[in-house]
Amino acid sequence: MPRLIADRPVLSSTSELGRVMAAAKAREAAGERVLHLERGEPDFDTPPHIVEALAQAARDGYTHYPDSRGEITLREALAAKLARENHIVAHVDDLVVTAGGTHGLYLTMQALLSAGDEVLVFAPHWMAIPKLVGFAQGATYRTLPVYLALQSGEWDDAAFEQHLRAAIAPATKGLYVNSPNNPTGVVLTRAQSQVIARVAIERDLWVISDEAYEHLLFDGATHTSIASLPGMAERTVSVFTFSKSYAMTGWRVGYVVCPPALRSVFGPLLAFYTTHGVFPSAQIAARAAVTSPQACVEDMCRAYDERRRLLLDGLAGCGAITVPAPKGSFYVFANVAGARAGRDVWTLIDEWLSLGVAALPGTAFGPGFDDWVRLALCTRREDVSEAARRLAAHHAAAARA
Ligand SMILES: Cc1ncc(COP(=O)(O)O)c(C=O)c1O
Repeated sequence: MPRLIADRPVLSSTSELGRVMAAAKAREAAGERVLHLERGEPDFDTPPHIVEALAQAARDGYTHYPDSRGEITLREALAAKLARENHIVAHVDDLVVTAGGTHGLYLTMQALLSAGDEVLVFAPHWMAIPKLVGFAQGATYRTLPVYLALQSGEWDDAAFEQHLRAAIAPATKGLYVNSPNNPTGVVLTRAQSQVIARVAIERDLWVISDEAYEHLLFDGATHTSIASLPGMAERTVSVFTFSKSYAMTGWRVGYVVCPPALRSVFGPLLAFYTTHGVFPSAQIAARAAVTSPQACVEDMCRAYDERRRLLLDGLAGCGAITVPAPKGSFYVFANVAGARAGRDVWTLIDEWLSLGVAALPGTAFGPGFDDWVRLALCTRREDVSEAARRLAAHHAAAARA
């Protein structure tokens, strides 16, 4: 029998998010109220001018087979946005519109990886990454815990460079980097990005730069696109999405900036033979999103910031849970070593569910994160405050007992 894709162990692993969501749903079916801090999906509606642009485009006939690389007017608008915001100089032929960031990452792994190749994945990492690597036949991944050491100051730039160099093996073909990071909210500094660039050039590596949360920045943090650094455009695939910045998760629109060496591969081959492009009306609406004033993005970012502060304030002084302040994304990665007290992290997740708080265990984001829990800020501010209140009260009571 030929081997099935599903036989690859990495592809048959179960989803922690699915488990938490099912448990939350069962409680809701039993009449309990659950505060949803487990899902990383904006709770805002897509801004009305974007919805209107979709309707108009559909009426205007943008309903036929798309260019598999993406509508040229969208790619032109994206090239202007990349130059303006990301300082990436990209030719429209090196931009490919994808069915969201997930599809962009899938195509990236397919384009870059062969059997025997390894991706070094900075961890903790978005849950989907191991599977996205696993779809590339014979490719593997290895995690390098980076973000918490940088966040805590345990690693300065020199230590980061040293650890990164030491982690690279002969099979390492590329690095997967995600800033702002899901789940920690760490935003790599320009100097840290320069470290990555230096090592990538020295060791001749690809960089897969996942910039899904580029617009969600707090406390004056700034976003550096690695492809904008000298010598990096030709070895970086930058992956972007409309899902998070514009609350467009269901629209499935993202884009990839490829090095010119991949020009013939990405759009004409990979995008064509996977989805044959993206619904053209959705692309015209995405163009409206990038070319209109960005007030909607700023408003949503402000709302996430407010929720972030409510959560940090609500858990301040709760000895059992310590929360480093995230600088970006809409997640908070909380250290729960005190709350877990040596128990399995799932015992703690279930305990929190019994309080009506749904969260994801750190183990979903790579090995070695048993002492961590991700809380997503994608629910009303009242629910965020209430979740913090319940957790703080519960652990204060547990400490007294
Ligand atoms: C780090 C990261 N990259 C990419 C994505 C992909 O998002 P989408 O496929 O909706 O564009 C996500 C979604 O959660 C994410 O967290």
